[in-house]
Amino acid sequence: MTEVYATPAAPVCAPSAGGSRPILSVRQMEKVYGSKDSVTKAVRDISFDVMPGEFVGIMGPSGSGKTTLLNCVATIDTVTSGHILVDGRDITGLRSRALAKFRRDDLGFIFQDSNLLDTLTGFENIALALTVKGEPTGQVKPKVERIAATLGVADVLEKYPYQMSGGQKQRIAAARAMVADPKLVLADEPTGALDSRSAAVMLETLEMMNASLGATIMMVTHDSYAASFANRILFIKDGAVFNEIRKGDTSRKDFFNRIMEVVTFLGGDAADAR
Ligand SMILES: Nc1ncnc2c1ncn2[C@@H]1O[C@H](COP(=O)(O)OP(=O)(O)O)[C@@H](O)[C@H]1O
Ligand SMILES: [Mg+2]
Repeated sequence: MTEVYATPAAPVCAPSAGGSRPILSVRQMEKVYGSKDSVTKAVRDISFDVMPGEFVGIMGPSGSGKTTLLNCVATIDTVTSGHILVDGRDITGLRSRALAKFRRDDLGFIFQDSNLLDTLTGFENIALALTVKGEPTGQVKPKVERIAATLGVADVLEKYPYQMSGGQKQRIAAARAMVADPKLVLADEPTGALDSRSAAVMLETLEMMNASLGATIMMVTHDSYAASFANRILFIKDGAVFNEIRKGDTSRKDFFNRIMEVVTFLGGDAADAR
């Protein structure tokens, strides 16, 4: 297929907003799985920046390397080569103690299935993100209640995950990701397990976390509707960035249509990138 949209391997950089530095810089990242008999290049060569306050969507067909990229930023996985800088610090070389501290203090996570602890209430799940950081006890309750109210889950704080809907669980997970004021929120297919109504609420929640609470978000998705809530989309294919589009002043609907055009153009093996 002709790659009309193909970009050279050069770094894709956001314009610097008022001279501030990127929250996230991915530099020539490569990730290879397996050994010499069976080698998979999950990420071939990815470079990009995320500036403070951005909501970036990473799109690509299944198997294109999205989760691998996100897991390397999350330090759940390690890169084969290249560098990942968070707020100017290279995290690819961090050792276990520094890694644990980095994950706890600087990152918030939202996964496809909310990953809440089943034996804890909504309140306790959110509070955990603060207590592991050593937050003074008196601060925990007001902080949990404030974020839960903001994200519309104040009424399920006393419930256990099995008593919540899928959408409520995901919003509790979003509250847990946000409560400790992380530098970067990472979301991997956050609406993947939700019905369309709950997905819309979850995406509006992410949009609000970004626009009103100032969260910098990187969301991985194969879903054009989900992606249209972001402000900028990086399209990856076969482990490399091949196109980038920005919402700019256009409406979410216009952005959705532009995303669909690129997805349709991808065609072929990207057909599942609906
Ligand atoms: N732990 C692993 N071991 C071997 N191959 C893997 C592993 N994780 C992912 N891969 C392979 O890397 C490629 C990218 O996977 P992934 O990042 O999960 O893609 P996506 O999230 O875009 O669907 C796929 O070909 C996948 O099979
Ligand atoms: Mg994935």
